[in-house]
Amino acid sequence: MIIELDSLDDSRLVDYTSLTDVALRKSLEAERGLYMAEGDKVIARAVNAGHTPRSFIMSKRWLEPLQPIIEQATGNSDGGDVPVYVASEELIEELTGFHVHRGALAAMNRPHLPELESFIGSHSSARRIVVLENLVNHTNVGAVFRSMAALGFDAVLLTDSASDPLYRRAVRVSMGTVFQVPWTRIENWPRSMQVLKDNGWITASLALRNDALTLDEFAQLPEVNAPDSKVALILGTEGDGLSNATIAHSDHAVVIPMAGEVDSLNVAAAGAVAAWELRLR
Ligand SMILES: C[S@@+](CC[C@H](N)C(=O)[O-])C[C@H]1O[C@@H](n2cnc3c(N)ncnc32)[C@H](O)[C@@H]1O
Repeated sequence: MIIELDSLDDSRLVDYTSLTDVALRKSLEAERGLYMAEGDKVIARAVNAGHTPRSFIMSKRWLEPLQPIIEQATGNSDGGDVPVYVASEELIEELTGFHVHRGALAAMNRPHLPELESFIGSHSSARRIVVLENLVNHTNVGAVFRSMAALGFDAVLLTDSASDPLYRRAVRVSMGTVFQVPWTRIENWPRSMQVLKDNGWITASLALRNDALTLDEFAQLPEVNAPDSKVALILGTEGDGLSNATIAHSDHAVVIPMAGEVDSLNVAAAGAVAAWELRLR
């Protein structure tokens, strides 16, 4: 149903408030099982990925271009039971607290995230995956997704305190690949690494250790080079890197040798370099 708004005095708009406070927004969205899709292209990608909208809000000029997507998502060009709020850009900005990219937002129901065992089971042909241990920065999370999509990786696993791939900054930096690359959360990390090992995954911690194999050495190991090898790359958090427990549990520690007295690469850059070296060929 299309609802034209001329004031913000509508309790159903609560999903769209307080969006600028990252922490609040995160907890509110997690609690309600929502995330915000911003702009026509992201909304279309989210709908094409099978995610369902709880409501839309947009300025009038976006209503017509978005109608095919609204119809695809709800079965009805006016949204059917799903509210489609139409308001001025100023009112939308007042409501959300930020300038809404391309004048449209959708409050989307979060997709169900399967547990690790069933995720691995339903991606049995996967050969290359990456694990993100507690990455805090949404830009890095988005950048990793983009690289993994581009370099042919099959999936991304995020430890439970890693940042949300569906946060608007992560979605934008990922160029929408968070809707393309399968992903889920993993609990009890690093103990749950055993699930990967039990399913034939070679686990490789990317870590700045003197005793680590270089990336070249690792890529040339017969078991990694084997045509049916399954490799899980593990990337560590921006500040402290991987925990000792993770490195100790994994099959190998792997380092990308650094030149020019540079300590380390940005985590997303390290992931891209390693993903290229370990690509299937
Ligand atoms: C910015 S680094 C963290 C640096 C941290 N001081 C450390 O010693 O690990 C974030 C993550 O990127 C990856 N990384 C960055 N540079 C790397 C390199 N040269 N070799 C292997 N992994 C690297 C690692 O997974 C690391 O945990």
